[in-house]
Amino acid sequence: MSKIQFNKAFTQQEPIPETAKKRVMELLDSGRLHRYNTVGEELSDAALLEQDFAQYQGRKYCLACTSGGYGLHIALRAMGLQSGDQVLTNAYTLAPVPGAIHAAGGKPVLVEIDEHYHLDLVDLEAKAKSSNAKILLLSLMRGHIPDMDRLMALCNDLGLQVLEDCAHTMGGSWGDKKSGNFGQVAAFSLQTYKHLNTGEGGLVVTDDAEIAARLIMHSGSYMLYERHGAAPSPEVFENIRLISANMSGRMDNIRAAIGLAQLPGLDKNCQRWNSRYAILHSTIAAIEGLNIPVRDARESFVGSSLQFRPIGLDVGQIPGFIAACAAQGVELKWFGDDKPKAFTSRYDSWHYIDPMPHLPNTLRALEKTLDLRVPLTFNDADCHVIGAVIAQVTAEFMVR
Ligand SMILES: Cc1ncc(COP(=O)(O)O)c(C=O)c1O
Repeated sequence: MSKIQFNKAFTQQEPIPETAKKRVMELLDSGRLHRYNTVGEELSDAALLEQDFAQYQGRKYCLACTSGGYGLHIALRAMGLQSGDQVLTNAYTLAPVPGAIHAAGGKPVLVEIDEHYHLDLVDLEAKAKSSNAKILLLSLMRGHIPDMDRLMALCNDLGLQVLEDCAHTMGGSWGDKKSGNFGQVAAFSLQTYKHLNTGEGGLVVTDDAEIAARLIMHSGSYMLYERHGAAPSPEVFENIRLISANMSGRMDNIRAAIGLAQLPGLDKNCQRWNSRYAILHSTIAAIEGLNIPVRDARESFVGSSLQFRPIGLDVGQIPGFIAACAAQGVELKWFGDDKPKAFTSRYDSWHYIDPMPHLPNTLRALEKTLDLRVPLTFNDADCHVIGAVIAQVTAEFMVR
């Protein structure tokens, strides 16, 4: 049988909306790219993005900053992390997450995940009790949202503050509550592969006025904090403004304008991701030898990527399987690889974590986990072709 070939790039985004291009040209003409370079009562594009995102998310306060990872770092500081404090976090996440803990002077305590890519609550409780951690940095890696009601109830019992890493859940929810509205603070990424694409960028939200003021001061507001779009009143800054270090990580107006133009289309885009995901899911789930973990009906995720496991293959066959899919134009990442590659690395490659735990459940959950990006530049027919390539390669490997 002839080999099915897929020919589109897995890293190709859609064009940025025309309204953003127009606004960016105006900003370039004005030369006023810095968020505090405003005239009179004018609100900068960065401040407008804060205003609009706070409203979209349904949170009181929002800070726009340089990246999601930077947002996590200053959020930890704003939540009161002191140098040397331990911070609980998922063992399955991306390198900027333990990196943010490290940057804030904290020590990551990695918690096991289960086979559904959710934080293991039994291990969370044990590690909360055996460490001095006061904060859980909950990474909703690849958009997998656990039972947030149970998780938050446990964190309340354990006295843990929760910082949500919503890099992959912007637009998602658990029940009728948006992802990012469960913990004290949540950080979102605007990096180019995320649900709003400004190249790089981050948004941090909270309902806590003092945390919001600290976030703004840390982000490098100087004494210009009144020029923010979704900030607490100036009195809140009085007590903290001289003791909160400036860690320079401001959002600029060009990226903010690019984000602002995409925000009205975000929910529609989430549906577009989900319709592509649905085709890929039904095709891949039907292939003998492959498995996709079942998701809870209360989870409204955004299907901008899909994870599956070739359970019918041995681990040793996985590199060959990935290479065969790649030869037919389908790019897969392997979260179980013991060698860090491109964006992907397993927790045990972050050697600065000391002591490095052995986490057998996480290793088992990731051992055969493959990851497929779902860019919006793919149409329904593309998703069918990708499914057909994976089916063909799987059938070939299953008979070996
Ligand atoms: C799960 C997760 N958290 C946090 C981040 C950090 O986001 P940024 O790249 O904006 O720093 C990323 C980046 O891809 C991520 O995948």
